[in-house]
Amino acid sequence: MADNSKAAPAPKENMGQPIARYEARQKVTGGKIYAADLPVPGKKAYAWMVTSTIAKGRITAIDATAAKAVPGVLMVMTHENRPPLGDIKSFVKGGMFVTDNNTLSGPGIDHEGQPVALVVADTFEAAREAAHKVKVAYAAETPSATFEVPGATTKNLTEINPMHKPLRFNDTKAALDGSAHRIDAEYSTPIQHHNSMELYSTTAYWDDGKLVLHEPSQFVWGLRKGAASQLQVDEDHVRVTSPFVGGAFGGKGGITVRTALAALAARQLKRPVELVATRSQGFTISGNRQETRHKVSLGCDANGKLTGYDHREWEFTSRVTPYNNAGLDNCAAMYAFGAVSTENHIVQGDRNVPNFMRSPPELPNIYALESAMNELAAAAKIDPVAFRKLNDTRVNVTNGAPYTSRSVNECWDAAAASFGWDKRNPEPGSMRDGDWLIGWGCAMATYPTQMSPSAAKIVLRRNGTALIEVAAHDVGTGCYTIAAQAAGERLGIDPSRITVQMGDSRLPPGPIAGGSISTASVTSAICDGCDRLLASLGLTAEDARASDSADRLRAALDKSGRPEAEATGAWAPMGAPEDAIDRLYKGGLVFAGGAGEERTMFAFGAEMVEVRINARTREIRVPRMTGAFAAGRIMNPRTAHSQYMGGMIWGMGSALLEATEIDTKRARYTNDNLAEYHVAVNADIPAIDIIMVPEVDKEINVLGVKGIGELANVGTAAAITDAVWHATGKRVRDLPVTIDKII
Ligand code: MOS
Repeated sequence: MADNSKAAPAPKENMGQPIARYEARQKVTGGKIYAADLPVPGKKAYAWMVTSTIAKGRITAIDATAAKAVPGVLMVMTHENRPPLGDIKSFVKGGMFVTDNNTLSGPGIDHEGQPVALVVADTFEAAREAAHKVKVAYAAETPSATFEVPGATTKNLTEINPMHKPLRFNDTKAALDGSAHRIDAEYSTPIQHHNSMELYSTTAYWDDGKLVLHEPSQFVWGLRKGAASQLQVDEDHVRVTSPFVGGAFGGKGGITVRTALAALAARQLKRPVELVATRSQGFTISGNRQETRHKVSLGCDANGKLTGYDHREWEFTSRVTPYNNAGLDNCAAMYAFGAVSTENHIVQGDRNVPNFMRSPPELPNIYALESAMNELAAAAKIDPVAFRKLNDTRVNVTNGAPYTSRSVNECWDAAAASFGWDKRNPEPGSMRDGDWLIGWGCAMATYPTQMSPSAAKIVLRRNGTALIEVAAHDVGTGCYTIAAQAAGERLGIDPSRITVQMGDSRLPPGPIAGGSISTASVTSAICDGCDRLLASLGLTAEDARASDSADRLRAALDKSGRPEAEATGAWAPMGAPEDAIDRLYKGGLVFAGGAGEERTMFAFGAEMVEVRINARTREIRVPRMTGAFAAGRIMNPRTAHSQYMGGMIWGMGSALLEATEIDTKRARYTNDNLAEYHVAVNADIPAIDIIMVPEVDKEINVLGVKGIGELANVGTAAAITDAVWHATGKRVRDLPVTIDKII
């Protein structure tokens, strides 16, 4: 992290500086070690999972004779000999994000790719060879793989989650019936898998009855809590370390079966066990984004004012637990609708449990809403940007809660000016460059500003350096650097003199690195810790802001007679329950923000894209995209730029590339590898123009920051499908847009 050997003057505005990520150079030169490669005491053994080849039914026999005969094999664990395990309370029941409690718990098979045995050997190669020699006999039944396959069970969300209330705001039917223009459209989004570069791995070892887990994680305190309840040990006797994460996107936020398997094997063998799921196993042993279907009706009057909005959604999920992202409340907060009604349906089948992935639930839900907005604007013959401005709102109309800030119109202006939107001929098929049909499309990006309670410990030393400790996570976003920037500004020292420690459950609890909550939550706790530290030294914010802040800090430390001072801060967002901090210290999950009862908290953006479609082959290219975003105070424009670019690239991937295909007879993912599951590569990525629109939000949290990690990903797909329509006259409502859909 920071190189503490160099003294530096103390700039007073550390935040907002485009400081390169401290660990960037070491990351790209192999100097940082990821979980699976962290050193362990003693000789490591290697585990390999055997996974089910059927999706539904049961195991009738397992023959491990040949596997055990492979030289170097240490154990074969199946449901027949697995030591006892405790349960984890699942998220839907108020507990943790857990993909599956079914860790070799019996002969039942709930989904294809479910672990059925664990082979551990002295070498990776021996474990792999032996795993392929485990013979499993099954009694197979016919699975229900996805929508429209017999046997899938559809329930209203209210049956699954009694807390859920479908939205009813005014009379939508009457509003729609009275509309001058109206569209009724069906949209769908596919299964997607996170596919981060770093695979899902767990290395476990036991030290005097205490469990150490090296696992790439978005929530080390949560993983500690879950692992402790599964392994039936005291929470204080579990340590999770995850200093660097090679991509997560939601996939590393929950607890998967692999953790307990590695821990059980390590306990039995009395040596460290490393378990790395293969790319293909990663498709079923962790979660994924579930496929969704939407029916949207949207109307406006003759002047373009929105009347009614009716949105019905269907999400596929597992029978094991009905994990779902459901919720259309955020969509309903977006515009000045005259009336709103929503309904969510959960469809359960024989599949692995999904989890959150890149901007849930806005990616599919806002895609549907923004697509409908574009279609309605076209029907009303109003420019889609003007249409959105006409229907802008300052409050969530469904409950009257005001936005703490909402700069979406400024984003539209900035994006339009940079993109050259005024040169768009609204007529579909009207813009052409030789063989290439040109289409321009746009959509709003949005993501709720969610926050979680966080603690943070600050240590200030006499030599002018400081240490921050918080069990937050840097999943590649720049959190280490931003934490130092926040503390640097609050204390009046240069961030390069601050060392930050994260990703270890021994540190004070931080939030899950999910829902784009880290920066807002962690910097708020750091500010609280810094304020307490200053107060304990008899200093004020003015002292920290003074040009001689370093001298004042040293003098105060000298006066206190201590070589260093420390303080632990704790912060909870507005709208969080009273006991939020207690729950934080118990490894619990607390979220607040978004479409709340009192306040509405969202970050916004405006995205514009150009597509070029070959008139003969229908090849689709995206040569350029513009995104203008307003998300409160930007802590570091360099890391923010990177997050926004990454978001728009994922959004483009959602529009054109990413989809997990499923064999509907066998409920098996068929493209479970990076050769056939397409993520954007450099050649796919256009010129990306990112504009950061200034926004001041004095209400939302200590520093006025909103999350940006998932923002830019939302809206891109609707902008691209609109551009495809603008180029060709064809509306594709089923993602991704592939050539066959526009022939
Ligand atoms: Mo992110 S999908 O909320 O981890």
